[in-house]
Amino acid sequence: MKIMVVGGGGREHAIVKKLKESPRVGEIFVLPGNGGMTEDATPVAIGAKDLDGIVKFAVENKIDYAVVAPDDPLVLGCVDRLTEVGIPCFGPRANAAIIEGSKVFSKNLMKKYGIPTASYEVFESADDAYSYLESAPIPTVIKADGLALGKGVIIATTRAEALNAVQSIMEEGKFGASGNKIVIEEFLTGPEVSVLAFTDGTTVRPMVSSMDHKRACDGDTGLNTGGMGTVAPNPYYTPEIAAECMEKIFLPTVNAMKAEGREFRGCLYFGLMLTPCGPKVIEYNCRFGDPETQVVLPLLKSDLLEIMMATSSGRLSECEVEFSTDSCACVIMASRGYPEKYESGYPIDVPADIRPYVYVAGARLSDGKLVSAGGRVLGVTATASELSDALAIAYERVGKIGFDNAFYRKDIGQRALMAKKG
Ligand code: AMP
Ligand code: GLY
Repeated sequence: MKIMVVGGGGREHAIVKKLKESPRVGEIFVLPGNGGMTEDATPVAIGAKDLDGIVKFAVENKIDYAVVAPDDPLVLGCVDRLTEVGIPCFGPRANAAIIEGSKVFSKNLMKKYGIPTASYEVFESADDAYSYLESAPIPTVIKADGLALGKGVIIATTRAEALNAVQSIMEEGKFGASGNKIVIEEFLTGPEVSVLAFTDGTTVRPMVSSMDHKRACDGDTGLNTGGMGTVAPNPYYTPEIAAECMEKIFLPTVNAMKAEGREFRGCLYFGLMLTPCGPKVIEYNCRFGDPETQVVLPLLKSDLLEIMMATSSGRLSECEVEFSTDSCACVIMASRGYPEKYESGYPIDVPADIRPYVYVAGARLSDGKLVSAGGRVLGVTATASELSDALAIAYERVGKIGFDNAFYRKDIGQRALMAKKG
């Protein structure tokens, strides 16, 4: 089968590599992909938000199955457009992708259906938000309603910070129209867990749990990033908690979406916090997480293409979704300076023997050589029966990569190892 994957980062590289293991998969095109994927797929210079270009390419090239990975095209209706022209594809339609596209929608959904989450208020005017903040408990959490490149969440530890956040989002338009409405919510505490789940709108098949490391520097300090590393499984996510999440969060969410006439088919990402009052939803994403996918898919033993096709055609209950009991670790090699200003164009040398374990994100080919071209550049992974070994091997691989401008955290997985020790 001819496959098309929409997206261009490390997550898409992980999806491509897993799809390649399926006996039914032939050529894979990735739109736009990047220069580090050419051994696994054919990058095509069509942007992930260029829906007209994507649909035209898919029709002209007689694509048999499409996977739409990033949030933007999903929220814009890429799956609807491809479905209209008869191309089966993996991912939710726009009316279901709103679960990530609007925080106001997702918070109201959780309230209506009794799904545990932080208590909150919605504001459509800055003045109303300012007066609420006069007496709101601090710390407080301020979230832009719409997509904001993962930067739309501000944890305010003082009242002044909270007021500033409202001003920059609602009055100065920091996130454009995404900040026309905001959610102000209760500050929760506890370990965070990411759970990705396949769902066809009725059946839910959670994948192995994972732990992201969002802060730029060791010891969870520094600025928030797209994710500096991940481990799977997440040791805080015990079988008891998993059962509780299935009963109180996963199934109720999928059923709620169906009841609203917004059946969700695809990968639903649950960002959870294990609070002293039980697991609560911090955020939903309508897609695979990045860099969670880079540690989750290597542990998948079943055929990804078969699962995806069963998901998109409503047959997930008939499909086996099996994961290895091993652990997987991913260390992100970013450009020095990320998530702020950084330089690109540095040569990257990944030795051939470790290429199968390296997912390429921000890189391009220049005269046939790979050079850095983004903030997060590589996701270097390893799988082993013990997390400590997976981490040691991942860091050993990092040490073998030539990339002068690299910056990475040295403590990925340390918190997970401590949790395992109890
Ligand atoms: P982002 O990836 O920018 O959406 O960041 C969201 C991060 O903000 C989460 O991973 C949490 O660490 C934090 N966060 C979001 N909502 C809350 C909340 N209600 N209480 C505490 N932390 C939160
Ligand atoms: N790693 C978090 C996300 O994909 O949104």
